[in-house]
Amino acid sequence: MKLVIIGTGYVGLITGACFAEFGYQTVCIDKDENRVKDLNNSKCPFFEPGVDALLDKHLKKTKLLSFSNSLSKSIKDADIIFITVGTPSKRIEGEADLSFVWDVAEEISNSISKYCIVVTKSTVPVGTTKEVKNIILKKIDEKDFDVVSNPEFLREGSAINDFMRPDRVVIGCENKKSEDIMKELYRPLYLLETPIISTTVESAEIIKYASNSFLATKISFINQVADLCEKVGADVQDVAKGMGIDKRIGSKFLHAGPGYGGSCFPKDVKAFIKTAQKHDVDMSILSSVDAFNEERVNQITKNFISKANLKKGDQISLLGLSFKPNTDDVRDSTSLKIAKLLQDKGIVIKSYDPEAMGNAKKENTKIQLCNSAYEACIDTKAIIIGTEWNEFRALDFLKIQESSKNLVIFDLRNIYNAKEITNLGFQYFGTGK
Ligand SMILES: NC(=O)c1ccc[n+]([C@@H]2O[C@H](COP(=O)([O-])OP(=O)(O)OC[C@H]3O[C@@H](n4cnc5c(N)ncnc54)[C@H](O)[C@@H]3O)[C@@H](O)[C@H]2O)c1
Repeated sequence: MKLVIIGTGYVGLITGACFAEFGYQTVCIDKDENRVKDLNNSKCPFFEPGVDALLDKHLKKTKLLSFSNSLSKSIKDADIIFITVGTPSKRIEGEADLSFVWDVAEEISNSISKYCIVVTKSTVPVGTTKEVKNIILKKIDEKDFDVVSNPEFLREGSAINDFMRPDRVVIGCENKKSEDIMKELYRPLYLLETPIISTTVESAEIIKYASNSFLATKISFINQVADLCEKVGADVQDVAKGMGIDKRIGSKFLHAGPGYGGSCFPKDVKAFIKTAQKHDVDMSILSSVDAFNEERVNQITKNFISKANLKKGDQISLLGLSFKPNTDDVRDSTSLKIAKLLQDKGIVIKSYDPEAMGNAKKENTKIQLCNSAYEACIDTKAIIIGTEWNEFRALDFLKIQESSKNLVIFDLRNIYNAKEITNLGFQYFGTGK
């Protein structure tokens, strides 16, 4: 089978590299010429563990993978075409901006020359895949292509493993022919007994949004429980442990913190609410989740300012800028939001992140970037642990004490033991403790 992947972001590139690893001839297309040039030189445009080795192997050794700017040339002999372009939030309305998807559908319709399957792998609102079909139908006969919804569930930071060993593969098809081809495509996973969930196109599209929205709901829920814990002398980590051991609840996504961020949850929750509104369906649970999450960074920032008695001109240290560890992605990062709110109050932010400083600087030029966590903690009034990178889990606080006295530590991710830190002479605030 010959595959074409359109869009070489986190999803498209990992999908392309992993399908090449399964043995398929795969061409990845991007309209960004520099990105394609870099990729053809095995240079990954973002940090993702393991992706460099896969690129190297399949570009140079197996030659199963290639990158190109030319969609029309690559599509001609493709069996399956994946749309993996971005679907960001429209800034004000919150609904998904599908302009990249529509552009690609147009381009595909100009180039199909034999039967193929067009797959939406981008996260798209229900009805989008059918709309992609309608766009292509304007130029191509319906017997010459099928559309399929095959949402992606990989997580940045563990994307390759998630793609190669997913909990499930969801394929939403309109007929048996396309379903059989998609099942054949995922045969390497089928052999690992990965559940393949076959549904209608509409159900597949909704499964993705409902899954992300449910996980976001879990996070907001435990964050509200954390706020209660702080008021009544309970510890949210103990509470989450006691809850999560119940198999009906599960322990994942029950970690209290600064709220969910990243390139998916915030925009997907908003888009799902919009879809429900469009169809006159009550999705008020999710509206509360979204509103609470939006407000959380404001509350947290106010809390810092009062607990550390921060004043204009004070310097603080922010450890971690990516929205989670093991990625350099800063899209909707809570650390960056907090940094901006503190800067608005005249507070100077010194920061260190193992991978995300380049991207963070593009978003916030006023952050002072440092070469290490220790450098960021020199002459600081407070430390905020914003992202739980492994290298922040065992900091030498005695070393930090040499240059900064009477420090207040805000451990947003609860990676330290409160007693141990207070015994060293620091003021310590975790989340929900
Ligand atoms: N990032 C994740 O962790 C993740 C996980 C699951 C699903 N998703 C979904 O997958 C989709 C892609 O997300 P991403 O993070 O990979 O996006 P991204 O923004 O990192 O990458 C999108 C890429 O598409 C390219 N592109 C846009 N228009 C194009 C066109 N007409 N032709 C060729 N290339 C074009 C862009 O240049 C860019 O490189 C989104 O819908 C997202 O919600 C993302």
